[in-house]
Amino acid sequence: MKAIEIRNKYLNFFKKNGHAIIPSAPLIPENDPSVLFTTAGMQPLVPYLLGEKHPEGTRLTDYQKCVRTNDIDEVGDNRHLTYFEMLGNWSLGDYFKEESIAMSFEFLTKELEIPVEKLSVTCFAGDEDCPKDTVSANVWKKVGIPEERIYFYGKDDNWWIAGEEGPCGPDTEMFYDTGKPPCSDNCQPSCDCGKYVEIWNNVFMEYFKEKSGYSKLTKRNVDTGLGLERMAMLLQGKETPYDTEIFRPIMEKLEELQKEDYIESRRIVAEHLRSSMMIISDGGRPSNVDRGYVLRRLIRRMIRHLNKLQINLEQLETLIDININNLKEMYPELEKNKEIIKNVIIEEKNKFVKTLAHGEKEFEKEIKKMQENGITKVAGNVLFKLYDTYGFPPEVTKDLAQEAGYEVNIEEFEELFKKHQEKSRQGSEQKFKGGLAEQNEKTIAYHTATHLLNVALKQVIGKDAHQRGSNITVDRMRFDFNCDHKLTDDEKKAVEDLVNKWIQEGLEVTKQEMRKEDALKSGAECMFIEKYPDIVTVYTIGNISKELCGGPHVSNTKELGKFKIKKEESSSSGIRRIKAILE
Ligand code: SER
Repeated sequence: MKAIEIRNKYLNFFKKNGHAIIPSAPLIPENDPSVLFTTAGMQPLVPYLLGEKHPEGTRLTDYQKCVRTNDIDEVGDNRHLTYFEMLGNWSLGDYFKEESIAMSFEFLTKELEIPVEKLSVTCFAGDEDCPKDTVSANVWKKVGIPEERIYFYGKDDNWWIAGEEGPCGPDTEMFYDTGKPPCSDNCQPSCDCGKYVEIWNNVFMEYFKEKSGYSKLTKRNVDTGLGLERMAMLLQGKETPYDTEIFRPIMEKLEELQKEDYIESRRIVAEHLRSSMMIISDGGRPSNVDRGYVLRRLIRRMIRHLNKLQINLEQLETLIDININNLKEMYPELEKNKEIIKNVIIEEKNKFVKTLAHGEKEFEKEIKKMQENGITKVAGNVLFKLYDTYGFPPEVTKDLAQEAGYEVNIEEFEELFKKHQEKSRQGSEQKFKGGLAEQNEKTIAYHTATHLLNVALKQVIGKDAHQRGSNITVDRMRFDFNCDHKLTDDEKKAVEDLVNKWIQEGLEVTKQEMRKEDALKSGAECMFIEKYPDIVTVYTIGNISKELCGGPHVSNTKELGKFKIKKEESSSSGIRRIKAILE
């Protein structure tokens, strides 16, 4: 079964079971600098898992584009991917363990036709925070999983939380038996031998974890995640995701073009190219910080491996075309953003090739020195020099070192890298304080106007006109929100009038710090963010608006000037975009 068929079956199955299909959020969480990329289907849904009402109801399903960056240097083996798609279904205070497990079982055995004998499951063993999950185990037994294939594990395996704090709970995981021989008499889902592959994770999200401990959420939710590439691989009886239709065309082309034969390099090129395309398509651009730096590393490592395969870099465009052609049914946005994807990747390639050969020579010199001195680990300062002078991401140097039989001291590099970033951050703050102070006032005013616009839209369009993103420059503000129609002239005027009325009223803007639960309970607005700090700042404007926000803001709305909508357009399906100015 092809990946797209699995996706469609999944969404239809949950639709049939009363779930609303919601669109994938972008890979780059807007307005949330606390995370680099969307890493799980639940991430954009956190406010709803914490109790906010979702406009589509209490049963939701989607496919979510995800990027996880912890394992970039593992890509090339037979399983790690930086980009993947997660299928998910959620209950927001609706069904719980029994129905969730029954639906998962039905989907796996009836829709995907996986024989029951191939399935094992794991449940939470219980500890001082939360009791043993016998409820889930009993449901599994009832639907048809025999007791000997139901395992219990502790928090390391059967507890889910994104990061250190946030909504969380015990989970039950489903495993597929590949039919490989057991690695020992005690071979079981928790071991890493490859016989059992995790296919689906149902989290029973009942708790909220913060530093001081666990508290109960107001509602009991279900959050599930199923990795699409992995499921496609298993159902197709393939050994790796690269053997599925998702990667076959690009892998075949690489085989045809290569002059040297390295399977790992082909996988790295295929995987990093897909990730880079998806990130660029959702607005990412290479740079030396944060998200941009991840993208830069992906593209540069890919270039280095194209070189290793001795594939002419002029072929990049063909490779991008092949990938877009192959993936556009799953991701129509790739076709739409084809030119930008090509331009960004090719420009980054051009930057990197200028220094690549020199950097490789420098690396060889260092290796020679190390040989003479009997050193086997490339030091952090060498890694840093190659990064700083030749633009070599540490993964690239690590690949080179491994090929030459050497290790690298990544920790030492990370320390130097951090220090360097800290220095340049301080540098740019200095610059901001000096020459850009006046412009700063302008952006602060736009920031406050954004809060007013958020409320005005809810009053004019309806309470479901939620903020979906915003962007501020010194010249204008941009605001994205849910709305199923183009705003009429009357609606636009009503929104403008409301904002200007509040500006004229000279409303005070006040700032208050409070515990995050209290803030959410008090009805403060917030955009999706993966996790809030313990104490949040809430900005209140008169009795008009209350929002969780880092600020800064003006102290009175009369400082804003006149608000004017310059443009109203579609941003993406179901999302409208307003561009406005303060005159
Ligand atoms: N949040 C869980 C996961 O990422 C289930 O979706 O596995």
